[in-house]
Amino acid sequence: MTKPTPLIAGNWKMNGLAASLAEAKATAAGLGDTTARVAICPPATLVAQAVYALKGTRLAVGGQDCRAEASGAYTGDIAAEMLADAGATLVILGHSERRAGYGETDALVASKVQAALRAGLEPIVCVGETLEERKAGQALAVVTGQVRGSLPADLAGKAFAVAYEPVWAIGTGLTPSTAEIEEVHQAIRATLTEVFGAHGATPPILYGGSVKPSNAAEILHASEVGGALVGGASLKAEDFLGIIRAL
Ligand code: 13P
Repeated sequence: MTKPTPLIAGNWKMNGLAASLAEAKATAAGLGDTTARVAICPPATLVAQAVYALKGTRLAVGGQDCRAEASGAYTGDIAAEMLADAGATLVILGHSERRAGYGETDALVASKVQAALRAGLEPIVCVGETLEERKAGQALAVVTGQVRGSLPADLAGKAFAVAYEPVWAIGTGLTPSTAEIEEVHQAIRATLTEVFGAHGATPPILYGGSVKPSNAAEILHASEVGGALVGGASLKAEDFLGIIRAL
């Protein structure tokens, strides 16, 4: 079975002005000989500038969302084709902040994944349970249901990643135990294998939610953890590099 190449991606969310690209450049300069693929997903206003600033480095650039349609009268929205045109190579889709804040359903996320594929972008598809769902013993059912509903069949044979981000661990400083992370990641892997057959073994399954330099080594070395999707700690090169070096 091919072990997925680890992917560590930084989600800047709605943070960052042009001056923040200095942190991205410092991250790129400090990557050394890491075996991971590393990316930052800045706000859409900075994607093209980040691509330009990071030219010739190993730090890839991604978007944080896209619309399913390729163009049209959708004021304020961004097409996958526009991200690709700006030089992005990845896109985060189905983040819980979009599922909760904008009512994004699994079906909508799946249509955005198809848009990403159409534009040649690698989707990072986020799933994760709320605290209430975990307390009710539904974490595995919720997460595997999101995996089935958000990943269209056309992903077979394509590059993509799944990010497990427990909603209650995002920006809170709380993280699940290593055993809890492993249990969910193993369930995601089993679902991927069920849906995509042998190809289901290849996509990295990232963990996201309060990853920082001090907990990165334990999380990144857990079974079936193939990298991380990092929020707050990806904004500062020193912290992001501390996570990357923990691999
Ligand atoms: P934090 O690392 O800030 O908890 O955010 C995680 C996240 O939502 C990444 O997409």
